[in-house]
Amino acid sequence: MRKYLMAGNWKMNKTIPEAIALSQQLCNYYNREWDKVDVVLCVPAIDIKSVHTVLDFDKTDIELGAQNVHQEPSGAYTGEISIPMIKDAGCTYCIVGHSERREYFGETDEDVNLKVKELVLNKVNAIVCVGESLNVRDSERHIEFVTAQVRAALAGLDVEDLDKVVVAYEPIWAIGTGRTATPEQAEEVCAAIRATIAGSFTQEAADSVRVLYGGSMNQGNVDSLLAMQDIDGGLVGGASLDANSFKQLIEAAAKAS
Ligand code: 13P
Repeated sequence: MRKYLMAGNWKMNKTIPEAIALSQQLCNYYNREWDKVDVVLCVPAIDIKSVHTVLDFDKTDIELGAQNVHQEPSGAYTGEISIPMIKDAGCTYCIVGHSERREYFGETDEDVNLKVKELVLNKVNAIVCVGESLNVRDSERHIEFVTAQVRAALAGLDVEDLDKVVVAYEPIWAIGTGRTATPEQAEEVCAAIRATIAGSFTQEAADSVRVLYGGSMNQGNVDSLLAMQDIDGGLVGGASLDANSFKQLIEAAAKAS
């Protein structure tokens, strides 16, 4: 069975003192029930080291992730950080191809694919984000669009690499808008993502890969989303910025396990 994964994406929020306070609060809330769920905090690059120190000291199983990475191991890429850097700083996960990076920083499917390949090679879990705009949804091309993104992101991987891959379906129209996809809308796409992986790799791999939903996930909708067969957790933005609200989501996932 697939274990639920609840990942917080802090985006460009939290100074170092704020990041320490939030991760410390989460560690204080942590209890054995949370072990039913994989919990990851994807924090701004500048917060990684401090949050790692907190998580390490408290000996919880909460894991740490970056929000983006460059595919080259080192070199003249001003402003970028590399996979060896995030790994050394304690990250076991990295978000790739978030719609905000695709939209505001011009990341292409090819960039996403290069990053995913390097991450799995370096044994860092890649949380690969896909999702359609409102335009695409309104023209009913969302399945075709999202499954093409999945195929492009995972091109050239070996089936064994998939145990380091998580796919997050985040419809752009649901991100930060308070307008969540209905459980049925989310399930339709998450099931199509799994079928695509089965088609490109094997059914067995598709059955074990985790597919998350992201987009205004909150206490009010988490239960119905997690009740869907092909939704294995959440990539949570706004509701992960407050310890109490993220705790509620983690506990909902533990209860649903
Ligand atoms: P919100 O939960 O704030 O809608 O953000 C979702 C998201 O983009 C997570 O990566």
